[in-house]
Amino acid sequence: MSRAPIRLGVLVSGRGSNLQAIIDASEARRIDAAVAIVMSDVPDAYALERARRHGIETAFVDPKGFDTREGFDAAVIDLLRKREIDLVCLAGFMRILSPHFVSEFRNRIMNIHPALLPAFPGLHVQRKALRHGAKLSGCTVHFVDEGTDTGPIIIQAVVPILDDDTEESLSARILAYEHQIYPRAIQLFAEGRLEVRGRRVLCHGVDASHLDAQRAWGAINP
Ligand code: GRF
Repeated sequence: MSRAPIRLGVLVSGRGSNLQAIIDASEARRIDAAVAIVMSDVPDAYALERARRHGIETAFVDPKGFDTREGFDAAVIDLLRKREIDLVCLAGFMRILSPHFVSEFRNRIMNIHPALLPAFPGLHVQRKALRHGAKLSGCTVHFVDEGTDTGPIIIQAVVPILDDDTEESLSARILAYEHQIYPRAIQLFAEGRLEVRGRRVLCHGVDASHLDAQRAWGAINP
């Protein structure tokens, strides 16, 4: 690895499988990035345990300790600034960031969402995709803007929906692709390839914006 790894601050609320994918990619030097801190708004989030096992600094910031969302966000911004974080990665973080937070890290906050945005934003999205009768779903890594799941799209993976899928089986299939595209998006950022132009994210030098349905199908039916 020639360049210094960029410093990631990962924000979590739960089990942290995407965090684990990022840590694994970092330790295997598949990405030029290192997780400098993992912050949770939930004290017993399993993601914190994962970070500790890898010797990564963790922090719990208690939302109950603040009267406003802005107060909570200011504490988190302070934590990230002090550690000179280059890129903030939301990985199952269940809070909406304030406009102040977004502007402090403009185009330097990524999120992963388990659907093909702009379809099915918000929560319980696999259930929504199944109920709608969609034939394809997937996952999206996007930059975070002031809306919910509305920011410029970096990478998407397309995943087929099968007739006998349940919310659980579809979630698991999508999750496997989340673990591929999140580290990939981070690496594109680390290489300085991403340029946000309006709603579009241009990726300079490589065609890395999607994993297509045929590959996804091949992976589940080899
Ligand atoms: C993932 O499905 C992610 O797309 C969504 O929240 C879930 C987090 O899972 N934003 P994990 O904590 O990374 O296992």
